[in-house]
Amino acid sequence: MNFVDLIIKKRNKLELTTDEINYFVKAVTNKSVPDYQISAMLMAICINSLTERETSDLTMAMTYSGKTIDLRSIPGFKIDKHSTGGVADTTTLILAPLTASLGLPVIKMSGRGLGYTGGTLDKLESIPGFNVNISSENAIKQVKEHSIVIMGQTEDLAPADKYLYALRDVTGTVDSIPLIASSIMSKKLADGADGIVLDIKCGRGAFTKTLKDARALANEMIKLGRSLNKKVTALITNMDEPLGMNIGNSVEVIEAIEVLKGNVKGPLKEVSLALGAEMLTMGGIAPDTHTALQMLEENISNHKGLYKFADLIALQGGNPAVIDNYSLFPPRMCKAAIISDEVGYVQEIDALMIGKASSTTGAGRKTKDDEIDYGAGIMLKRKVGDKVAKGEILARVFASDSKKCETACSLVHKAIKIGSKPPRRKPLIYEIIK
Ligand code: URA
Repeated sequence: MNFVDLIIKKRNKLELTTDEINYFVKAVTNKSVPDYQISAMLMAICINSLTERETSDLTMAMTYSGKTIDLRSIPGFKIDKHSTGGVADTTTLILAPLTASLGLPVIKMSGRGLGYTGGTLDKLESIPGFNVNISSENAIKQVKEHSIVIMGQTEDLAPADKYLYALRDVTGTVDSIPLIASSIMSKKLADGADGIVLDIKCGRGAFTKTLKDARALANEMIKLGRSLNKKVTALITNMDEPLGMNIGNSVEVIEAIEVLKGNVKGPLKEVSLALGAEMLTMGGIAPDTHTALQMLEENISNHKGLYKFADLIALQGGNPAVIDNYSLFPPRMCKAAIISDEVGYVQEIDALMIGKASSTTGAGRKTKDDEIDYGAGIMLKRKVGDKVAKGEILARVFASDSKKCETACSLVHKAIKIGSKPPRRKPLIYEIIK
């Protein structure tokens, strides 16, 4: 087979055979074709899409492009959770320690930032010393002893996805339903969990902008999971505005700690608990959603979730003192404020523009090999619906130099729209598909 012929076939909107998809994935895994040809294929898929059969073939080929993990030696129902990617979407850092503190074995395989969306691994690496590179054997040991691990994709777990993920991040080929579905599900199928809770983001700051697309993505992933006898639940959640107030890496970890301390309420906490409740009921720890939510609230009040997060940090080589001393995080250098020049109500905060602004501060990558500035980012001071006065601070921006600060500030300023009347609110959780 010739790789260029496959690119042309997809460019011409033709369906690739199972053998051709396998050839593509093998070429990626063996690194036998250059990045520019793989990128051309990704772009052709992004533009012309894949059929259901092609998506299923791509998922299976990526799942088996490396090793799969066998979690059968860990007692209980093992659950993984994955978000399709959002802005200020720090739910994992809240729900993983909370559900683990309630006895659920949590083996969470996370990713890095993708496009303008943040990545759990990058956020965790802002904690001094934190190590996300855990072997499958050590991950299993850690879960057996402490109920929790948050790790990166090992070199040998779905390596084809790992390679494609990094290329998609920097080639404008992220927002494709079959590419997102196969990327997420290949990892989830390879990591051996019995059940998967999916957070399908929908809106301006998500890769699926409409409810129709979000539903299509959810259904695609549910079908892929069921074909391998995994339990799958998908929540479609709003991503028109950033979920939390902080966007970046260390700033998002700090916000997650504040939620675990019981100091922060609002959409980030609400979505984290909704996802956590699904995990607890799917895992048989709670009989129903109402009880699960009460259990999660209780482990915020008694700080058991917070202590579990401190345990996780220590277990993975990080300094757990960050929980009480935020000055141990990398420094936030240059600082600027965005001031309201109007009186009124916040009508919208464009999550996409805020994600791009955060990337501009240095909190995200523009090329595969870019280094992240862990201290950079944005802190919003107001949410949609809040009343604001003229001259009030709407947000603060942190970056390593004044040029980055200025560019990010102008994007944040544009992202926040103020009007005279309170805005009409959209639901935070659109649908739960079981
Ligand atoms: N998360 C993933 O793992 N892959 C995607 O394509 C999007 C979000």
